[in-house]
Amino acid sequence: MRKSLMLASAGLLGLLAAGPALSAEKLTLYCSAQEDWCQLMANGFEDATDIKVNMTRKSSGETFAQIKAEASNPKGDVWWGGTGDPHLQAAEEGLTESYVTPIRGELQDWAISQASSAGDRTIGIYSGALGYGYNTDVLAKNNLPEPSCWKDLLKPEYKGHVQMANPNSSGTAYTTLATIMQLFGEDEGFEFMKGLHKNINQYTKSGSAPIKAAARGENTIGIVFMHDAVKQAAAGFPIKVVAPCEGTGYEIGSMSIVKDGRNPENAKKFYDWALSADAQALALQVNAFQVPSNKNAPTSDKAPDLSSIKLIDYDFAKYGSSDERKRLLKKWDDEVSTLPQ
Ligand code: G6P
Repeated sequence: MRKSLMLASAGLLGLLAAGPALSAEKLTLYCSAQEDWCQLMANGFEDATDIKVNMTRKSSGETFAQIKAEASNPKGDVWWGGTGDPHLQAAEEGLTESYVTPIRGELQDWAISQASSAGDRTIGIYSGALGYGYNTDVLAKNNLPEPSCWKDLLKPEYKGHVQMANPNSSGTAYTTLATIMQLFGEDEGFEFMKGLHKNINQYTKSGSAPIKAAARGENTIGIVFMHDAVKQAAAGFPIKVVAPCEGTGYEIGSMSIVKDGRNPENAKKFYDWALSADAQALALQVNAFQVPSNKNAPTSDKAPDLSSIKLIDYDFAKYGSSDERKRLLKKWDDEVSTLPQ
């Protein structure tokens, strides 16, 4: 009896001792790319490593705000995806860790310069040009002309037909704000944003929501990254994609390791894996048509050809700086979003 009790408790002790080894390795992933891609990256990493991923998708500005709010007790390990500007701001504010990946040599120059400009606290994972898309059926039904420039979107006949995200929550919309400043200068740029405001039917939280609404016929024109509009067209919706005639800005979608996260080793494993050609190739399974940062990753022939688009020389150092991002967003809040429509 005694012996069997001893055996039983030894077995229990053995199990307890084995506990930490048995309990699955973990990673908390904050994701700011499109939901289906986020899910695929989480599953792909679990399959490749047996590390259990807890993923949440939030927009770029929202994730930045969350990481900042959690800085004294970080809960995330890696922030993957979303526009580069808030990643640069997080780097500047010391919210993310410096890390140099061993596969740096496989990456495009633009991905590395994003890292170099931020003391290796972030890195480029994809890029894509801003533009807009519209539902050709809804446009025709409303007898509206086909827009092809940024300034076309100010025409009074588009009142209630344009949708974009809120630049505080969405990196796409912040890229729009920064692009307009760079194209037209600050004074004319803010006049543009005020004129556009009159035509906006809704500022959404997430950047790609306006083109998803257009695809469903619930909106006409959505200001989004061109690849998000191509995704809807590829799914069979009557969406036409526009590279605005004046030229346009672009994003360097980025990844950063959260400072003092709970699983730093797993964070580095995810980081290196996410930069590999194999992991980046997963994008095509979910019609994510961004340009991958790994030179050996495949691109789709449906992806917008950045070399044929008039791209501005987007000033990431300026528009990703903490002071400038805060200043522009406050000015947009004070002078644009509060105006009557
Ligand atoms: C979409 C795009 C990404 C972009 C992201 C930003 O998912 O496909 O390229 O980085 O939007 O999201 P946000 O909601 O912050 O605008």
